[in-house]
Amino acid sequence: MAAVSDPIDVDRVRQRFQACHQGHVFEYWDTLTVSQQAALLHQTSALSEGLADLVEGQRKAVAALDAVPDAAEISAPEPIRLPQGSEDERRLAEARETGLGVLRDGRVAMCVVAGGQGTRLGFEGPKGAYPLGPVSDRCLFALQAQKIRGLARRAGCRIPWYVMTSAATDAATRALFEEQGNFGLNPDDVFIFSQGMLPAWDFEDRLILSEPHRIAESPNGHGGAPLALAVSGALEDMEARGIDRLFYYQVDNPLIRMGDAVFVGLHEEIGSEMSCKVIRKREAADKMGVVAEVRGRPTVIEYTEIPPDLRDLRGDDGELVYWAGNIAIHLFNRDFLRRIAAESERCLPFHASPKAIESVDSDAKNRASVGPNGYKLERFVFDALPWAERTCLMEVRAEEEFSPIKNAEGKDSPESSRAQLVARYRSWLGQAGIEVPPGVEAIEVDHSVIDSPADVMESGFSDLADAGKAILVSTGSTGTGMDA
Ligand code: UTP
Repeated sequence: MAAVSDPIDVDRVRQRFQACHQGHVFEYWDTLTVSQQAALLHQTSALSEGLADLVEGQRKAVAALDAVPDAAEISAPEPIRLPQGSEDERRLAEARETGLGVLRDGRVAMCVVAGGQGTRLGFEGPKGAYPLGPVSDRCLFALQAQKIRGLARRAGCRIPWYVMTSAATDAATRALFEEQGNFGLNPDDVFIFSQGMLPAWDFEDRLILSEPHRIAESPNGHGGAPLALAVSGALEDMEARGIDRLFYYQVDNPLIRMGDAVFVGLHEEIGSEMSCKVIRKREAADKMGVVAEVRGRPTVIEYTEIPPDLRDLRGDDGELVYWAGNIAIHLFNRDFLRRIAAESERCLPFHASPKAIESVDSDAKNRASVGPNGYKLERFVFDALPWAERTCLMEVRAEEEFSPIKNAEGKDSPESSRAQLVARYRSWLGQAGIEVPPGVEAIEVDHSVIDSPADVMESGFSDLADAGKAILVSTGSTGTGMDA
């Protein structure tokens, strides 16, 4: 680090920070060791060029916390509903054929965002490493890899998996993939890339030092995905492989219907640039962003930002007018992602959320009781939606496709998610005409070979006489009944 011994560099960077009223980050400079000075200079140099924009962006994000959207500009969107009759069924069957064609042509890749810190879950390690398999305890990544292997086999082509990490999860995720042999996927089809970080701010618009030589930072939100896909070379990699569609989902939803052919087909038939699956909110107060039309553009409004009278509004049929909850499952056109990546500053503004942030100015151990001491900034990927020329919103059933793991216990926890998986597989077995003995508590399906009740039937799996408390539905007539 020759730069440290060069006082001009330090002075230049320090002046930039002073000009943006952030000179305090060098407050401890004279007390730091040489390597600590090097670390701080490295971090501040990287931030200095865009610092003025960063300060401005965070101020706007904080101001937006109090802004109430103008209800007159908001109206209900018109998603493609769950099928109501044979005409709808026919349309979706057609879309499925279209989607299968796109998949078979090898035009679709999978992308999981797995860079979050998973603070609410409180699991040691990246969320993707969480052991969720109801019978096997396989981790979330392993369960998803099974689905990708199954999808690739059925489509008869290679399906790359783009895995977004962050500084918080990258090393552990890479180590896990290495240790687990990429979960059975061809290493050439696994592309791990890291998103950027953003600094944290106190309530006086000042950068927070987590240590005397370090500015507190956190991952820049799932909205960091378009830019990270671009700068990591993932979009180029897609192009070289002839892939122009990216199926995007979150690591913590084990019910994900990977590369859903109907969704892919509707996206294609509509000529959509960005598509979005939605579920029907049960209660107005459900903590989930809703898709609405804002000034005529489909837009996701966070549950914290929707005016209460709109949130609670019901139509003549008694149903919520703003019922379309966003479940963060999207399909993107590659060219659209490139456009958004180039214009992230404009299209994906920062969102600020008050958090307890480790700081040299506060006792870290007391953070929970003291409460938030500043803001973390994030970009949200769904902010890209109104920028798409065309979009497709598709309603799906929550019990079939959405089971997020957010909390350590209770709602949206591993326990509730596992129960939902087991209920789903119990229903598959039932549809395949297989009576599950009442004593069975855990059921799991190997998605690399089975992806529907029809597959269960074809697999020849039937004999549950010795099932014990757990069933692993696997391939061939050798379906295994195992004790948990
Ligand atoms: P959440 O916003 O639920 O965050 O992320 P989280 O990290 O999982 O959990 P908390 O809020 O700290 O408790 C939803 C999805 O977006 C990804 C997460 O990994 C998860 O798949 N994500 C979130 C990122 O990839 N990067 C981020 O910066 C934030």
